[in-house]
Amino acid sequence: MGFYLLSLSQFLSSILFLFHFQTTISSSNHSSPSHSCAHGQSLSLLQFKASFSISSSASGYCQHPKTASWKEGTDCCLWDGVTCEMKTGDVTELNLACSLLYGTLHPNSTLFSLRHLRKLDLSDNDFIGSHISPQFGQFSNLTHLNLSLSVFAGQVPSEFSLLSKLVSLDLSSNYYLSLEPLSFEKLAQNLTQLRELRLSMVDMSLVAPDSLMNLSSSLSSLILNSCGLQGKLPSSMGKFKHLQYLNLGENSFFGPIPYDLEQLTELVSLVLSGNENDYLSLEPTSFDKLAQI
Ligand SMILES: *[C@@H]1O[C@H](CO)[C@@H](O)[C@H](O)[C@H]1NC(C)=O
Ligand SMILES: *[C@@H]1O[C@H](CO)[C@@H](O)[C@H](O)[C@H]1NC(C)=O
Ligand SMILES: *[C@@H]1O[C@H](CO)[C@@H](O)[C@H](O)[C@H]1NC(C)=O
Ligand SMILES: *[C@@H]1O[C@H](CO)[C@@H](O)[C@H](O)[C@H]1NC(C)=O
Ligand SMILES: *[C@@H]1O[C@H](CO)[C@@H](O)[C@H](O)[C@H]1NC(C)=O
Ligand SMILES: *[C@@H]1O[C@H](CO)[C@@H](O)[C@H](O)[C@H]1NC(C)=O
Repeated sequence: MGFYLLSLSQFLSSILFLFHFQTTISSSNHSSPSHSCAHGQSLSLLQFKASFSISSSASGYCQHPKTASWKEGTDCCLWDGVTCEMKTGDVTELNLACSLLYGTLHPNSTLFSLRHLRKLDLSDNDFIGSHISPQFGQFSNLTHLNLSLSVFAGQVPSEFSLLSKLVSLDLSSNYYLSLEPLSFEKLAQNLTQLRELRLSMVDMSLVAPDSLMNLSSSLSSLILNSCGLQGKLPSSMGKFKHLQYLNLGENSFFGPIPYDLEQLTELVSLVLSGNENDYLSLEPTSFDKLAQI
């Protein structure tokens, strides 16, 4: 009721005052961020940068040499490709896709001291046949990992099963990388949040097709073309209710197409070409239902 006693001009000036107060607060946050990059993490990033050379042939599809902007004595939270948690100044995202990085990623790399990472993208660089270190398993909060197109070789370490918060994993187009059956099974059982799994070109020739059925039922995208998978197609796919993209092309599958594919009502794209297609069979009833998708 006191409110009605204010004159119009008093009312307007109090609004203006509030407005001024608000903008002062937000601009002061902007000009002096109270939490800049934690010093140790800044150092880790600089040492990581120093362990690679920049080579114009290291990235194929796009080229953004992001580490070039990283300078000692500046706030690493403002560096290209680096994202920090505002409250703590911890580095939580590192996106170095297409950064022309050339060199070996050693297990003693300071990359692995960035324990707070939630998203890590090192895709489309040239790590010249580096093995994927078991140290990747230490990134316990990682939700997104992209190591595609980066010339990794050897085996996917079984420690990947420790990354139980992963939502998206892309290891595709590393031509000399293989995934052993035991590592695959551990990964399939523990990565229960996975929505996107891309392993194109990764050698999975020893993995039993039926073990694909143990993958997370949250999957919306399963891209396993050219993985050397062989044998009968998984007998059932019905549990993957949210699957939108399924690519099992360019493998050596034969036998009946899973009877319950028609239950995948969200399917947008299905690729089975490039298999032993003379020996793939589709029941007429399944075909009718698939045709309605
Ligand atoms: C500015 O900082 C204060 C205190 O640290 C915080 O409560 C507020 O949300 C921040 N404002 C903006 C716009 O970030
Ligand atoms: C990391 O390991 C590599 C290979 O073993 C070695 O050449 C390099 O000097 C090591 N770097 C550091 C900082 O210890
Ligand atoms: C992981 O995330 C949890 C929950 O957000 C957090 O409490 C914890 O500190 C994080 N761990 C690291 C190493 O960042
Ligand atoms: C991973 O990186 C590649 C190359 O940068 C990109 O094309 C692909 O979409 C990324 N994968 C995911 C799952 O985002
Ligand atoms: C599965 O993930 C949890 C962390 O969420 C970890 O403690 C456990 O060791 C993992 N199991 C395997 C087989 O890696
Ligand atoms: C699926 O996982 C269970 C354990 O949860 C295991 O006993 C079974 O062998 C796995 N199936 C395949 C085909 O790998």
